[in-house]
Amino acid sequence: MKLHQSVVLAVLVIVLFPLTAASQQPTHSMLGNTCAGCHGTRGQSADPMPIIAGQPEEYLTRTMKSYRSGQRPSTIMGRLARGYSDDEIDAMASFFASQNWMSPKQEFDAALAAVGRKIHYEQCETCHANGGRHASGGTPRIAGQWRKYLEVIMQEYWRVDRKMPHLFMSVIMSRLHSNDLKALAHFYASQR
Ligand code: HEC
Ligand code: HEC
Repeated sequence: MKLHQSVVLAVLVIVLFPLTAASQQPTHSMLGNTCAGCHGTRGQSADPMPIIAGQPEEYLTRTMKSYRSGQRPSTIMGRLARGYSDDEIDAMASFFASQNWMSPKQEFDAALAAVGRKIHYEQCETCHANGGRHASGGTPRIAGQWRKYLEVIMQEYWRVDRKMPHLFMSVIMSRLHSNDLKALAHFYASQR
């Protein structure tokens, strides 16, 4: 399924089953369930939705809040995030951060992955340490993320007309060639 098709499908699911999470004191996992249609019950999303299980709490909170404020461009998350209070976002972030990341098995091109590996160790390893497995503070894990999502999100940072809130990542990405983005995505997809 293409990204936009999956999104349309999932939106239908949401419209047909409106969120009732606004009841008193929802537990962390109850809140997490409202995300399951796209991100799986524990954040282990199906391709091409980004895996969020085990991402750092700080990263998850900040990302959700910047979707909500419209600072971070998105196809769907902005509209969704607007339905949640700060406390609910914090609770969901803590729930997903406490789940285990599991890299899915996915196809990749070995030659492209080798090109991507070289770029990674030259330009990305300082922050995305351990081959992109590092996940801490504001830095998300990227090794083993779905390749299609990585390609899309790297394009977002790369494109000057899409103002991603993280200045540094945008500066770093803008120095690369669009072919490099593809190679990097194959490299991260090859990592477990
Ligand atoms: C209808 C499908 C759908 C639902 C439901 C959904 N998401 Fe998302 N999520 C996406 C898509 C698609 C993206 C990529 C950004 C975009 O295009 O909106 C994303 C991106 C994210 C990201 C950023 C991941 C990254 O590393 O870049 C986070 C965090 C996130 N979602 C959290 C949540 C939470 C928490 C919920 C439950 C309140 C939720 N999502 C519900 C589809 C969904
Ligand atoms: C100075 C530290 C730093 C460097 C160097 C860096 N990144 Fe990042 N990267 C980050 C941070 C912080 C984020 C989260 C940004 C945000 O909140 O939008 C991020 C986000 C990402 C994401 C989005 C992940 C997601 O789940 O949405 C990808 C993909 C990525 N970086 C790839 C790269 C690649 C490829 C390079 C090298 C060309 C690189 N980064 C270099 C710090 C860095």
